Amino acid sequence: MTDRSAGPVVVVAGALYDRGRLLAARRSAPAELAGRWELPGGKLEPGESPEEALVRELREELGVETETIRRIPGEWPLKPGYVLRVWAARLLSGDPEPLEDHDELRWLARHELDSVDWLDQDRPAVAEAARLLPEV
Ligand code: CDP
Repeated sequence: MTDRSAGPVVVVAGALYDRGRLLAARRSAPAELAGRWELPGGKLEPGESPEEALVRELREELGVETETIRRIPGEWPLKPGYVLRVWAARLLSGDPEPLEDHDELRWLARHELDSVDWLDQDRPAVAEAARLLPEV
């Protein structure tokens, strides 16, 4: 059984910025989420801070080194017992590749954010994350 006495399971996702654009990742699994776009990330492991978990997840999933900048305000429910929290992050090295969990990546400027089919739960997070993108 899952012990939820310590609160919800936290899923951290990264609003990864580079040259005025935000990275969107298309999920390849599970079947019910495949084809939908998200901010890449994953579940915290025991003993990890959210920032550490995010840097690890982005390394595993995209093959890049990143640093977190600050939390994007808000918290969004996923399935029962799970919540999504988002950190702004910047690329330190590497060129993101869809190594794990994703089959396509796109860097989106502000005016392109609606061009992909975001997961419902990611939409409000993306709207918040967009506030850190340049106006043009
Ligand atoms: O990589 P890990 O197994 O830790 O996590 P994941 O499978 O990528 O994400 C855990 C859960 O959070 C899944 O149910 C995802 O659908 C959800 N998630 C989400 O809704 N939005 C995101 N931006 C990232 C994950």
